[in-house]
Amino acid sequence: MNAPLRRLTPKIHAIIGASPEVRLEALKAQPFVAYGTAKRISDRLEELLISKRSHRPASILISGPTNNGKTMLVNRFIGLHPPDDDPSAEAITAKVLYVQMPPTPDPRQFYTSILDRLNAPVRRTAILSQLQSQALRLVEAVGLKVLVIDELHNIHSGRVEQQRAFLNVLRYVSNEKQIHLVGCGLITAVRALQSDEQLANRFEHWPLPKWTSENGTRALLNTLESTLPLQHASELSQPDIMSRVLALSGGTIGEIVRLVNAAAAEAIQNGAERIDASVIDGLRWIPPGDRRRAAELSLGYRD
Ligand SMILES: Nc1ncnc2c1ncn2[C@@H]1O[C@H](COP(=O)(O)OP(=O)(O)OP(=O)(O)O)[C@@H](O)[C@H]1O
Ligand SMILES: [Mg+2]
Repeated sequence: MNAPLRRLTPKIHAIIGASPEVRLEALKAQPFVAYGTAKRISDRLEELLISKRSHRPASILISGPTNNGKTMLVNRFIGLHPPDDDPSAEAITAKVLYVQMPPTPDPRQFYTSILDRLNAPVRRTAILSQLQSQALRLVEAVGLKVLVIDELHNIHSGRVEQQRAFLNVLRYVSNEKQIHLVGCGLITAVRALQSDEQLANRFEHWPLPKWTSENGTRALLNTLESTLPLQHASELSQPDIMSRVLALSGGTIGEIVRLVNAAAAEAIQNGAERIDASVIDGLRWIPPGDRRRAAELSLGYRD
């Protein structure tokens, strides 16, 4: 029986009485969990999209540790605004575009990624200035407003002069076509942006720090619980469960979601239909920070 006043998403509500097999299958489709900062960043990104073109386009940096939801957040935004390639329209429109920062700050690869994303033919023998003008013409033609650049910290894998030259490229693209830049990356990306005075002046920093007992983890766990097809309430935000989840996950959302889903699967399989401390302890979850040591131990590298 369901506990009174339990909050479930409509999708989960619809299948809560279904067989364990159906519910185990449903667990695999982890939905996007809209936690507080994610909502605020998403709202800000939507604002950029409807804002008038400006000679001072915004640059936004979403920074945080690995596995902490940066790419998922921008992917969701991109998914909400897919390119419109209606064959009856005169040209495709793509208001938002996602590219990955090349492994080194190489403008050729950067422009090539933009062209590839827009399915434009790229002449591999083209010189940089040709790629640049082709890419800039195209972003104007499709009406691009927001360019998302993931893995922006890769900028640091170049020499200082290359880094500076790449920042010039970013600034040029943004100013020339009045495009808002949204970078995602590890915290080291902040240093890169700060080293360019003009970008630094107008860039907004949105950190996604690791989850702790003080920064909204309770709300995150409550929302996450509403996505679990379990027949009884678990109350994941209770202190004893929350502290276990934080300790075993190392505080990243990717690991928190994986751990909670593994616990939910176990609770369906063993018939408990709720996650409690014993279900979590029974998983024998190794925190990410200890995994290398555990692997080495299992291979007999250490004693
Ligand atoms: N809002 C969310 N709702 C549900 N699951 C999420 C959410 N954000 C992240 N996750 C989970 O965390 C995993 C890691 O997220 P993501 O790939 O966005 O991390 P990242 O910060 O981009 O890491 P990296 O720096 O390594 O690229 C995702 O695959 C997903 O399972
Ligand atoms: Mg990522």
